[in-house]
Parts: sequence; C-alpha cells; structure tokens
Amino acid sequence: MKPRTFFGSAFALLIGATLVVSCGQPTPADTPTEETPSTQTTDSTSKEIVTAAMLSSFASLPNKVSSSDYQLTDEIITLGRMLYYEPRISVNQQVSCNSCHALDQYGVDGLPTSVGHDGQSGSRNAPTVYNAALHIAQFWDGRSPDVEDQAKGPIVNPIEMGMPSGDDVTAALRAISGYDPLFAAAFPNDPDPITYENAATAIGAFERRLLTPSRFDQFLEGDTSQLSEQEQRGLTTFVTVGCATCHNNAAVGGMMYQKLGIVQAYITDDLGRFDITGQENDRYVFKVPSLRNIAETTPYLHDGSITTLDEMVRMMGRHQLGRELTDTQVNDIIAFLESLTGEIPYDYIAPPQLPDTEPTSSDSSG
Ligand code: HEC
Ligand code: HEC
Repeated sequence: MKPRTFFGSAFALLIGATLVVSCGQPTPADTPTEETPSTQTTDSTSKEIVTAAMLSSFASLPNKVSSSDYQLTDEIITLGRMLYYEPRISVNQQVSCNSCHALDQYGVDGLPTSVGHDGQSGSRNAPTVYNAALHIAQFWDGRSPDVEDQAKGPIVNPIEMGMPSGDDVTAALRAISGYDPLFAAAFPNDPDPITYENAATAIGAFERRLLTPSRFDQFLEGDTSQLSEQEQRGLTTFVTVGCATCHNNAAVGGMMYQKLGIVQAYITDDLGRFDITGQENDRYVFKVPSLRNIAETTPYLHDGSITTLDEMVRMMGRHQLGRELTDTQVNDIIAFLESLTGEIPYDYIAPPQLPDTEPTSSDSSG
C-alpha cells in the first residue's frame, strides 16, 4: 500500500486558498526586547499559508510496510509478536525487545541510554520501534538495512540480550516445544523452520505494522480541522525555516543521513556513520530520526542528552540551520510536533500468552 501524498489529492487545489493562519504577533509595546531586527525577520510576515507545496514534503502513514522478501501473513505476525515479548531468548531469560522498546510507552524506555541484561548500559538512546520499518535503514548509524536484519542484533549483543550466538538462540527456541507449530505455520515452506534467522524475520514482520497514524495524517488527507491554528503555524514554520529538508516523508524523518552539527559543531564522542563506512565525510553523520511521536519519546538524540523538546528545537535551529529561533517559532513548532503523536494500537500490541516449554497436549506417553 502506497502512502498517499497530500500533493496528489484533489484537496490540494483547495488548501492554498483556504488555509490562512496568522503568525508573528507583534511584541507588545510595553515589553521591548533586545532582539536585533535580523532575528525577527524570520517570523515577521503577518500571514503564513499552509500550501500544497509545503505539504508535499510529507505523506500520510500507510497501514503496513510491505517486504519484498516475504508475505506479511497473520501467522508470521502472530509469531513475531510473541518473540518480541519473549525473554527466554536472552541470556538471563529476563530481557525482551519490549524491555527497551515498551510498546505501551511509544516504543521506548525513557532512559538516556538503555540498560540490558545484568544492568549493563550501552552508549546510545533506544529509538522507538513504531514506524521504524519505514526508515531507509535501522539504528542511529544505519548499520542494518531493515527491521528483520536489525532484530538479530540485540539478541546477541553482549550488553543487550546477551545470547552467546545465533545457534544458542535457535537452541533456546527449540527447547520451547510450544513454538513448533507456530514456526511451522509462519514458515510453511521451510522444512526446518525454527532458526534464529526466521525468528528475526518474524519479529520484523510484526514491526512492519507498528504504525501510529495521528491527526496530522487526517490533516494531510484533507481534514483541515484536525490541526489548530497554532499547529498549522508550527507546520508552516517547520517547513519555511528548513526542518523539513531533513525531517520529511511519511515518518517525518528516517529517510536520509545528515551530519549532527552541520552548521555549528555538536560535541560528541560518537562518530556515527564514520564507524561503519570509514569515510571522512561520515564523521558525526547520523540517520535523521523520525519525528512521529516525538513528544512521547524523550530524552532525545543518539546520546539521550537532551530532555525537552524546547531545548531540542532550539538546538536544531542553531546546529542544523544556523539560526536562533524565536520563542514564538519554537512554541509553534512544538505544537506541530505534538500533533504527530499517534494512537498506540493497543489491540495489535496486546502481550500474548507465550508458549510453554512442555507440549500442552495431554499425551503423557513420553
Ligand atoms: C537493552 C536494550 C535493548 C533491547 C533489549 C533491544 N533494543 Fe532495540 N535498540 C536499543 C538501542 C540502544 C538502539 C540504538 C542502537 C544504535 O543505534 O546503535 C536500538 C535500536 C533498535 C531499532 C532501530 C530503530 C531506528 O530508528 O533505527 C529497532 C527497530 C530495534 N532496536 C528493535 C529491537 C528489537 C526487535 C529487539 C528485540 C529483538 C530489540 N530492539 C531489543 C536498545 C535495545
Ligand atoms: C540538516 C539536517 C537537519 C535539519 C535541517 C534539522 N534536523 Fe533535526 N535532526 C537531524 C539529525 C541528523 C538528528 C539526529 C542527531 C543525533 O541524534 O545524533 C536530528 C534530531 C532531531 C530531533 C531529536 C529526535 C530524536 O528522536 O532524538 C528533533 C526533535 C529534531 N531533530 C527536530 C528538528 C527541528 C524542529 C528542526 C528545525 C528547526 C530540525 N530538526 C532540523 C537533522 C536535521
């Protein structure tokens, strides 16, 4: 299913003429500011219009992200959901994907950097799994091509789920006999379906429907009443100051790599994509994150160092665009970002009953 772009809809013809929002209220005369005129010019226009051209940077969320490698069947998704919540594929049998990407908390753990088995801490913030299947690649540095490949990483990561090897994951799954029929149903053409690879594929399949449409999607589809005047002003500012040159498309991000500190350097020990490619111009380059649900996934950045959206938006202005955003601009942008908070699909993510180690049948002959 292709996401519909706003630009393509018939409604695009209407919007330029009808959506007029006022912006940049003059500073009250009794509270003079020391702002130089140059910083005020950015929001000095008295009226800004959400035009179809502005909205063409975005697209509404699809209801699934298909894979070219396999079919997203109910059976594979059912299995993937179980494995997502399965702590028995971690070395201490206590950590699952959901430990760090809590699905009822917008897919994050709320910590600056995640804590894995034995309380060990990594050096990066856990991004949300919601809408991640849309991204060009996975991880802050894009080192994994898709959600299926990505899912293999944490299971054997020594400080995440800590399994010694993929073979140990396969062995752990084979020891849980309740998984036999589930893997067989999910991978009907595979004579030996219980493998670490297939487990990761099933988890990826489950993630391909972890999508969170919000009011912004309804707005993109033509229902202008979905965004308040301030939110529309924030959307306009988001586009006109340049945020959407990097944060765009259906996930409002996730589609390209960019340097953190492209205008004003950002001090971090993390070299980003340079560690993957070894290319000089990849120093401090990261995947541009999706801003879907951003109001719910604090703290921010790859290092989890920024705790508020206010600080985050201002520093993006400075480091990525070389401009000092005004308070009005910041508040409007935050209002727009809040409209990207979607609905958690509670039915889809309901924690399943995990299979027993012993067969559930009453056959006692063995
Ligand atoms: C101990 C905490 C922890 C566990 C357990 C964990 N993750 Fe993560 N996850 C992270 C961190 C931290 C990152 C970012 C690492 C990086 O970019 O280098 C991440 C990144 C991701 C991403 C990339 C998202 C994006 O925007 O690029 C996905 C998808 C993901 N994890 C899914 C999973 C799945 C599926 C599992 C279970 C198999 C899992 N994670 C287990 C902490 C965890
Ligand atoms: C030149 C590209 C670029 C521009 C322009 C840009 N950003 Fe970003 N943005 C990034 C990158 C790259 C990151 C991730 C950096 C990191 O974590 O190391 C990021 C991170 C963020 C985050 C934190 C996301 C998270 O999950 O931690 C927010 C919020 C954000 N940007 C908002 C904005 C806003 C608002 C604007 C406009 C004022 C903007 N960005 C302009 C590239 C850009």
